[in-house]
Amino acid sequence: MAYNAPEGTADMLPAAARLWRSTVDSAAKLFGTYGYEPIYTPLFEITDVFTHGIGEATDVVGKEMFVVRSGENYKRALAEGDDSKLKSKQKLSLRPEGTAGVVRAVVQHNLVEQGAAPAKLFYAGPMFRAERPQKGRLRQFHQIGAECLGSTEPTADAEMIIMLMRFFEKMGVPMGKTRLLINSMGDDNCRPAYRESVRQFILDHEGEMCEECRRRADTNPLRAFDCKNEACAHVMENAPKITDHLCDDCREHYEQVKALLDAAGVKYIEDPTLVRGLDYYTRTVFEVQVVEGMGSQSAIGGGGRYDKLAEIEGGRPTPGLGFALGFERMVLALEAAGTLADSPKRVDGYIACVDPSVRATAFDLVCAARDAGLSVEMDHQGKSLKSQFKMADKLGVRVVIVLGPDELAQGKARVRNMSTHAERLVDIAAAKRLLAQFGGNLVGGGAAPVSIDALFDAEGAE
Ligand code: HAM
Repeated sequence: MAYNAPEGTADMLPAAARLWRSTVDSAAKLFGTYGYEPIYTPLFEITDVFTHGIGEATDVVGKEMFVVRSGENYKRALAEGDDSKLKSKQKLSLRPEGTAGVVRAVVQHNLVEQGAAPAKLFYAGPMFRAERPQKGRLRQFHQIGAECLGSTEPTADAEMIIMLMRFFEKMGVPMGKTRLLINSMGDDNCRPAYRESVRQFILDHEGEMCEECRRRADTNPLRAFDCKNEACAHVMENAPKITDHLCDDCREHYEQVKALLDAAGVKYIEDPTLVRGLDYYTRTVFEVQVVEGMGSQSAIGGGGRYDKLAEIEGGRPTPGLGFALGFERMVLALEAAGTLADSPKRVDGYIACVDPSVRATAFDLVCAARDAGLSVEMDHQGKSLKSQFKMADKLGVRVVIVLGPDELAQGKARVRNMSTHAERLVDIAAAKRLLAQFGGNLVGGGAAPVSIDALFDAEGAE
């Protein structure tokens, strides 16, 4: 029996995996200029990290979490019929998003010491939500996210939004086909009264709304703004708007964020119904949507401020904010716009053997070239010379080195430039000396400082 990957997951085959890696590299480079450093947190956490942080009444926690059980706890749950005997630290879930885990790590390792500069952290990796799979909505998807802890200043909000927009721009997302929505969710001062007024509004319109929204009135009334039911959406158009209920401090903060975005020339749309699906947000929230071609899954990234989250995760009061972008959705947006940049496999050269007698020398040369940081291939299937050239062509190499018994007897190899078809005989010992100068480059990482073309000019070439 052959198996497929589970529903809602996708294998990242080499072309997609290369794109993922180059996207993460680009993010690391750009975010680095804003002072961000990488962080990796576990793919699963103690469930409470999510239920407390993201909120029990959210869809993400209430409906979409994948539970993780170790073998031993799985057996125990089977025997007892439930998880009730498990201690809190034994109840684990796959992460549905990155923020709660990063904030848990910041608290655990005291990364924002009193009076110290903000902690600026970015991450990239898989997230898991048991949603109903469809185009742009997966059960395992990949986010690139950034979190900044330790600043309440509106400049931090503006910086976060600008960094996200610059990244999308850099990746080729057509800015003209996106919209940046922003809103302020208020804080502990002004939100409770606002929440109550939305609750009351829903109760006043109970008859026109779906069952879920009626339930939401008590559990999480603001979620009613995101209800997909047309009747509910229609009713909610007239619901009280948070922006009419902000306290002075929140209003001032929001005004400053907008002024900073204006000054930076970042265009945005104020959307007082933007509430986002996670409960930890306070004040600024934002979302980037693609206007065409993405159906209902048009949000390619989003985020906001969460000034209470560190406390919820058991830490000192520490303001914070961040964003995450969805890699798969960004790729769909790039495909739709025809701006998906290829990140081709890089193979510099191919070493071809005329017959089996030269294979050992070819292998030796391949090793020397790789040690010098070049990407080179040779045949491992006993193919004919013609097939080897075909393979070299397919790989798109610039240079093929042909080893034949006659040339080898004189210590020479034929080097062919595949684009100009120019050929010359090169002294193998000289080529190896040249490569040896760069030996160990690969281990050090980075691009090879030696170019495959240099082999043409290896001392002793004729
Ligand atoms: P989020 O809006 O839930 O926010 O997710 C961020 C992005 O992840 C979405 O805009 C979308 O592109 C992508 N995404 C979400 N769910 C799926 C899915 N099922 N399939 C494919 N892509 C998906 C967060 O996760 C917050 N942690 C963002 C944040 C960081 N807020 C503050 N800091």
